[in-house]
Amino acid sequence: MNVTEAITWRHSIRAFLTKPVEREKLDAVLAASVRAPSWANTQPWEIFAAASDTLKRIRAGYRQKYADKAPTAPETPHPIEWPEAAQKRIQQLRPDMERMCGASVEQFAELNQTMFGAPAVVYVCMDKALSEWSLYDIGAYSQTFMLAALEQGLSAIPAITLTLYPDILRRELKIPDNLKITIGIAVGYADKGNGINNFVSSRKPLDETIRFFE
Ligand SMILES: Cc1cc2nc3c(=O)[nH]c(=O)nc-3n(C[C@H](O)[C@H](O)[C@H](O)COP(=O)(O)O)c2cc1C
Repeated sequence: MNVTEAITWRHSIRAFLTKPVEREKLDAVLAASVRAPSWANTQPWEIFAAASDTLKRIRAGYRQKYADKAPTAPETPHPIEWPEAAQKRIQQLRPDMERMCGASVEQFAELNQTMFGAPAVVYVCMDKALSEWSLYDIGAYSQTFMLAALEQGLSAIPAITLTLYPDILRRELKIPDNLKITIGIAVGYADKGNGINNFVSSRKPLDETIRFFE
């Protein structure tokens, strides 16, 4: 698989097998991911990986929070109001999912709430004192991680829902107060029997994306 094939083939996986991720494979992905670029090589990413019993406790904690309808508290807040064009694309995502692979809104929510059944979640944190620029670096790290995962036969999804209850993550993963939890990336083996994983999201046309002057 060349680079373009890997970029094109990658898509978010929302249902994983319970099969654990071999530690060597996750280590190889983590080792490759630190080659991501960052402003002045600041490498703001601080990684907290959860698997096995630790992830079981986090998942159980989340289940309880959802059952209690506890207010969510992601540390990277949503925009107060999405610009109209972004809003339109958000509104298109779930109907597309339903049409292309029959996944209902309820199934989507259930998979999100159960952390997609993933055997491992990697939390990417950064120092609270850093600026928005470092979020750019975190994004680069995240995509690098997901592409490196492909090479190991692993799939992944970055998800804000994985970060909704930071108190549980801070307790279980001993995340220091000076760090902000920016994103969680669930990783593992795709459940090929679950149709939601066949969903391939659309992209706006290139001529709406690129203004090329020469
Ligand atoms: C910062 C970020 C947060 C995301 N959060 C969620 C989430 O909470 N739940 C979810 O199902 N997908 C989430 N996604 C996945 C996006 O929906 C997905 O990347 C987008 O629809 C494009 O599809 P693709 O990744 O399959 O190409 C997130 C992606 C990013 C980059």
